Amino acid sequence: MPPPVKRISTVDIRRKKQEGRLITMLTAYDYPTARLVDDAGVDMVLVGDSVGNVILGYDSTIPVTMADMLHHTRAVSRGVRRALVIGDMPFLSYNLDRAETLRNAGRFLQEAGAQAVKLEGGREVAETVRVIVSAGIPVMGHLGLTPQAVHQLGGYRVQGRDAATARRLLEDARILEAAGVFSIVLECVPVELAQRITAAVSVPTIGIGAGPHCDGQVLVTHDLLGLYGDFKPKFVKRYAELYKDIARALREFREEVEAGRFPGPEHGYSMPEEELP
Ligand code: KIV
Repeated sequence: MPPPVKRISTVDIRRKKQEGRLITMLTAYDYPTARLVDDAGVDMVLVGDSVGNVILGYDSTIPVTMADMLHHTRAVSRGVRRALVIGDMPFLSYNLDRAETLRNAGRFLQEAGAQAVKLEGGREVAETVRVIVSAGIPVMGHLGLTPQAVHQLGGYRVQGRDAATARRLLEDARILEAAGVFSIVLECVPVELAQRITAAVSVPTIGIGAGPHCDGQVLVTHDLLGLYGDFKPKFVKRYAELYKDIARALREFREEVEAGRFPGPEHGYSMPEEELP
C-alpha cells in the first residue's frame, strides 16, 4: 500500500501567491495522463471542457455535457493522489437555475472526486460563484478568452486589447475575487494587462497565453506533448512531439506484421512437444 500523500488544497494554492511561489496546472481527461501529471509534481489538474476538442473530436467545447465531464473527472480522480483536481463546469450547466447549478457543482465533488470546480465569465456569474462557494465548493474563475462564449466573442482571439475591454476585465477579476473564487484563469489576454490584473487581486491568476507575470501557468497537456492537432497557438511550447512518435510506432507495427517480423520467438509461449495433441 503506498504511503498517504498530503493533497494540495485551495489554501495551499493561495499561500503560494502570498509567498511568491509560481503555481502549475495542466489538463488531464483520463487515468494514465492524470497519473503522469500528478507524478510530475504539478499543483493542480484541470479536467477541462477542452476534452470536447482534444478527446471527443468536437470543434468547440459547447457540445460537452455534465455526463461527459463527470465520466472524465472520475477517471482523473482515480489517477491523482497529490494535486488539486478541478472539474470544469460545461456549457449551460451553471447558467439556468440556482438549484440546478448547485447540484451540478456538487456532483463534481460528490460523484467524481474533484476538490473544486471552474466556470467561465465575469460579473455575470458573480452571484453563481457566491452560491457555489457558500455551499463549501471552491470555485476557480476564468476570464479573457472564454471558449464557451466563442460565438459571442466572434472567434478564438486575444481579449482586452483596447482600454474599455481591458478595464472591464480588470473589474471582472475584482468582482470574481469579491465573490469568493480561490483563483482565476486568464486566457489570451495581453501580457501587460495580465500583469495589472495579477497585481490587483489577492487570489492567484493562472495564465494561458497571458504572459509570464501571472501567479501560475496552465497548458493543455496534449498541446505541450505535441499530441493534438497541427495548429499550434503562439502561447504553446511543445516539450515533446508525441503525435509523430506514436504515428511512427503504429506504422512500424503494421509494417513488421505485414513483413512477418512480428511477433518474434521472444513474444510467444511454448509447451512440451509430447503434450501437443
Ligand atoms: O478547458 C480547458 O482546458 C481550459 C484551460 C484552457 C484553462 O479551460
